[in-house]
Amino acid sequence: MSKKSANSSVYFGPPRTDAESSALAHVLAHSFGRTDAEAAEWVALHDRANIRVLSRAGEVEGGLVLIHMGQYFNGAPIPMVGIQGVGVAPDARGRGRASELMQRCLREFHSEGTPISTLYPANQTLYRRLGYEQAGHRFEVHIPLHRIGARAPMRGGDGLTVREARCEGPVRVRIRALSTRFASTCQGALDRTDVVWKRIESPSASRGEPSRLFLIERGPTLEGYIFLTQSVPPTTTGPNRFNVNILDMAAITPSAINRLWAFLAGYATVGNDAIWFTGPTNPLLIALPEQTYKPMLLRDHWMLRLVDLKAALEQRAWPRGIDATLTLDVKDENLSGNTGRWSLKVSDERATVRKLARGTKPRGAAIKCDIGALATLYAGFASAEQLALGGRVEGSPDSLAIASALFASTRGVPMLTDMF
Ligand SMILES: CC(C)(COP(=O)(O)OP(=O)(O)OC[C@H]1O[C@@H](n2cnc3c(N)ncnc32)[C@H](O)[C@@H]1OP(=O)(O)O)[C@@H](O)C(=O)NCCC(=O)NCCS
Repeated sequence: MSKKSANSSVYFGPPRTDAESSALAHVLAHSFGRTDAEAAEWVALHDRANIRVLSRAGEVEGGLVLIHMGQYFNGAPIPMVGIQGVGVAPDARGRGRASELMQRCLREFHSEGTPISTLYPANQTLYRRLGYEQAGHRFEVHIPLHRIGARAPMRGGDGLTVREARCEGPVRVRIRALSTRFASTCQGALDRTDVVWKRIESPSASRGEPSRLFLIERGPTLEGYIFLTQSVPPTTTGPNRFNVNILDMAAITPSAINRLWAFLAGYATVGNDAIWFTGPTNPLLIALPEQTYKPMLLRDHWMLRLVDLKAALEQRAWPRGIDATLTLDVKDENLSGNTGRWSLKVSDERATVRKLARGTKPRGAAIKCDIGALATLYAGFASAEQLALGGRVEGSPDSLAIASALFASTRGVPMLTDMF
């Protein structure tokens, strides 16, 4: 077969037919240990436009799902494409198919000016080679309900009320507004899209009962909320014991935070643990009187990719009170448009970014790094000095110090509470 005809039999893009969607579902079922029916439901949840398949000679060899959402860095939501369910058929593995899928996606995102992309890696090497790098955590936290103590706020006196509600209409609008406010205080938190909200509002039947929503209000004003389910733990310490699974919670005032924990403490008579996925500096966690969340189980290091370097830097918010200029000498093996010398000028919490002509000698502070190291720095997950230890960032001590100060997180340790 000629090279041309061999290439022309390769297709990358959204599924063109129901048969291609089903073929991808079949690949994903086997890749993620699901039944064909479960995988078909998963694929059907997403618009075809957000699915990518890679096929050769009409055979779907692999695919993935794209989730267009945003991610907060220093309080600003940055448009982000989340990658979900990268799967390659077992008989097509080991021949670079996943790498090809991801490279094609990255080129597509770059051409659209997408600032960043994020994923949970099952294999770090695959994504690291493509410019993704560790940028934050997701921990599984178990808090014994009887150790939360402090039920007193449930008696009232703080001006707050708690009520169960359905997440629809105006309630949904208020929940989302409060979530946005809370998320903007947590580095790395998602600016969620409907697909991600669905996992909170109506988790799949296989995870047990539907979630229940409770609102914490001061008159007409929403100050906090919690979505939860109850489940029987695998080993019970007695009959009728439950765990409380927190699917999402947020509170934006000190009394609402206290009320939220007191509300959870109210489950202690029949509940074992509150189970929650979050980061170590979630403001709600810090509010607990004792460190009853130990040990925290590190479940994931999520990875970030700066896809369009200029857009990513210009859309991020920067620490207040720091005005500085830094030259970035960046190497990107996969997206050559990011490679080169960039001038980053930060003033009044915003940045202007300009590509420097080849051969321009940097003046002032300058660092050299690969695109992955820049992602870690961008998230505020590690400092320039820390990355320099492993040779991922180079620069004089002064330049490293300026880079660290500029890229520092103003919203705590980068974290994700959501799985996608
Ligand atoms: C992971 C998976 C997508 C890889 O697909 P693939 O087409 O074989 O991947 P590639 O050939 O592009 O591999 C690229 C790199 O990934 C890593 N990798 C891939 N499969 C691996 C495996 N089974 N064990 C360890 N590393 C692996 C290797 O570093 C590889 O580079 P190398 O071949 O030079 O060593 C595929 O095995 C799969 O579908 N697995 C089940 C689902 C899954 O784990 N998905 C990832 C979710 S994030």
